[in-house]
Amino acid sequence: MASNVRYDFSNRIVIVTGGANGIGLAICRRFAASGAHVVCADRDSSNESTLAAEGLSFYRIDVSQETECEALVHWTMQKFNRIDVLVNNAAIQPSASYRPIDDVAAAVYQRMMEVNLAGYFYMAKHTFKQMKAQRSGVVVNIASAQGYRTAREVGVYGPIKAANLMQARQWGVEYARHGIRVVSVSPGAIDTPMVRANLEVQGGAAALANRHPLGRIGEPEEIAGAVMWLASDDASFVTATDLLVDGGLNAFGAFADPYEVE
Ligand SMILES: NC(=O)c1ccc[n+]([C@@H]2O[C@H](COP(=O)([O-])OP(=O)(O)OC[C@H]3O[C@@H](n4cnc5c(N)ncnc54)[C@H](O)[C@@H]3O)[C@@H](O)[C@H]2O)c1
Repeated sequence: MASNVRYDFSNRIVIVTGGANGIGLAICRRFAASGAHVVCADRDSSNESTLAAEGLSFYRIDVSQETECEALVHWTMQKFNRIDVLVNNAAIQPSASYRPIDDVAAAVYQRMMEVNLAGYFYMAKHTFKQMKAQRSGVVVNIASAQGYRTAREVGVYGPIKAANLMQARQWGVEYARHGIRVVSVSPGAIDTPMVRANLEVQGGAAALANRHPLGRIGEPEEIAGAVMWLASDDASFVTATDLLVDGGLNAFGAFADPYEVE
């Protein structure tokens, strides 16, 4: 979904974790198109030269390692001397986690906790130190509609995404006094490599689309649009809250299709 809304992020410094693919890539591109200097931080460096050609600064990282997160913040400060926006987006949903939890290996659970939860904490922790000194900044956690509502076989992923929501609320309240806003965005199903890899367990593309009242899944650019607004001064009174961008999925209850109420 192309948008003609223009934001001005000229000379702003933006870090996006998991920026090499899917939702993160769309966020990187939209910020770059709005004039920002974007640090695309990802463990997947296969697109590094393409990203560089688009003007993005690529930084290879595993966000589950605190030392690497600290080093990224340090590197960004050395290069740009400030951080205006952090988008915590890097996360995993391995197919081995799509099971009732008595069938999920502890190693899968631990890795998801390390990347999807601790990774957000490490990045925010080290970024807040800089933003406090600046007395400004915005942190956006990409959470999920699955942090609100139940579904089969997401008994590990869903609770972690709910924790990403609460991180934003807690941190938003804590850091408001420093001029820092913290919010989360909760997407419904979005057409990305993560979702394509798990289409079968979701009952196929058509079933997944029909679970959204808008009758389709979303595009990464539609999440990027929400993040842009939240990071912009138009959202200057928005903090410690979540924005569902889910095609109505979360409200789909009383009229739910059989798959949902089974
Ligand atoms: N796609 C959806 O339907 C959907 C819905 C709700 C929420 N989300 C959330 O949106 C975010 C992005 O999801 P996506 O669908 O674009 O996923 P994706 O798998 O397509 O992309 C995730 C990116 O994160 C990177 N990454 C994974 N582990 C990393 C690590 N340890 N360190 C650094 N980078 C790492 C990957 O290399 C990849 O580039 C995630 O937080 C996900 O939970 C996605």
